[in-house]
Amino acid sequence: MEKYLRLLPAELKEVISYAQNISGQLEYRAYLVGGFVRDLILDVPNLDMDIVVEGDGLKFAEALCNCMDGKLTKHRRFGTATVILPNKIKIDVATARKETYAHPAALPVVSPGDIRDDLARRDFTINAMAINISSAGFGNFIDFFHGKDDLLLKRIRILHDLSFIDDPTRILRAIRFEQRYGLKIEPHTYSLLRQALKKGVLEKVDKQRIRDEMILTLKEREPVKYIKRISKLIGLSFFSPKLRPAQAKFLYLAKAKKEIAWFKKSFPKKRMLDAWLIYLMAMLKDADRAELLSLCRKFAFRMGETKRIQSYAHAFNKADTLLAKKDIAPSKVYQLLEPLSYEVIILIRALTRKKEVKMNIEDFFRVYNGTRIHVNGDDLKSLGIKPGPAFKNILIKLLYAKIDYQFKSKEEELAFVRTLSIKKWS
Ligand code: CTP
Repeated sequence: MEKYLRLLPAELKEVISYAQNISGQLEYRAYLVGGFVRDLILDVPNLDMDIVVEGDGLKFAEALCNCMDGKLTKHRRFGTATVILPNKIKIDVATARKETYAHPAALPVVSPGDIRDDLARRDFTINAMAINISSAGFGNFIDFFHGKDDLLLKRIRILHDLSFIDDPTRILRAIRFEQRYGLKIEPHTYSLLRQALKKGVLEKVDKQRIRDEMILTLKEREPVKYIKRISKLIGLSFFSPKLRPAQAKFLYLAKAKKEIAWFKKSFPKKRMLDAWLIYLMAMLKDADRAELLSLCRKFAFRMGETKRIQSYAHAFNKADTLLAKKDIAPSKVYQLLEPLSYEVIILIRALTRKKEVKMNIEDFFRVYNGTRIHVNGDDLKSLGIKPGPAFKNILIKLLYAKIDYQFKSKEEELAFVRTLSIKKWS
């Protein structure tokens, strides 16, 4: 495996070299594991490193963090820690452990173990390979479960027959890896997956874990493809009972995808979109507000996410009607769209059938949304206006007027302020 390691970018090789030194100093054995090893073999870039140590993972992470000037977050309960380096490389460090499950879908009971135990508790053979990065045995490849063969033969295989029962989120993970790398779930694994589904295991899992898996799925490059596959294989009712995998939903998702691409291309400097949320809202397009609220509560979406998911249901009809009016003033477009999140606006543009709505939204992003006024409180004072609530009103009126008339200079803005009934505010 040394040849694979040699081909890594310099910043990753540096981490490995520090990890090797620390493992020597602490006399622990350390291994690269999981998705990082899988992607190394597939030659897929991956800046998320997973290191497992036979020893105290927290101590190891602390030492690594100190010598690499990173930021450390400890998760004491699990004996794991995350180091984030200034160049954004993320290193998860864990103590090698054994896992047992008290009952299906429960969180595992964890106890210390060696690298074999640690690999044996994992989801699929392709994620259960390791590379020794300790001083003794540096570069040795560890593949008890023949993950490399499976990777080359393009198949997904679980390590033991109860895997999907122990952790039903692996059903969604199997589909994710299958779609991402063009693999196939091998027959025995597939039949165990179906048996687990028949037992209703997905309904028993902690809802937040399902939510996290759905978010990861929607963050993939081709989420539409993934959702189609999930629908076909297991349906979508585990997520929301009313979510039927109808053809229309795929059309919404495809339209959302096109619109996200349009936004990214047209406005590369605007803020990054939470594209996954747009896809999620597209999937839930036909749900009413009460259903959406109950879904957000059930899956414990964050407040900001819940607000955006909720606001879409309300905003679409209003925007689709008002923005279709030919003579709508630019400031009205601004007032309608400005309180909404970008995600909601993009989905409105994706799902409207009206050209005017699309154009007004484009103008909002291109022109109105960036409008800034030059006049400030001091200017208002020098016009003899007394400070107070009137200031805010004047500045808002000025902003709307600037959006409508596209004032070019501060002089034009001041001239507008003078036309307002100044007496009223003085
Ligand atoms: N893992 C597991 N069962 C799970 C989740 C994770 O066995 N339900 C193990 C796998 O070995 C996986 C590793 O933990 O490789 C790290 O998990 P995660 O970061 O979620 O997965 P990656 O394989 O790194 O996948 P991705 O590329 O999507 O980050």
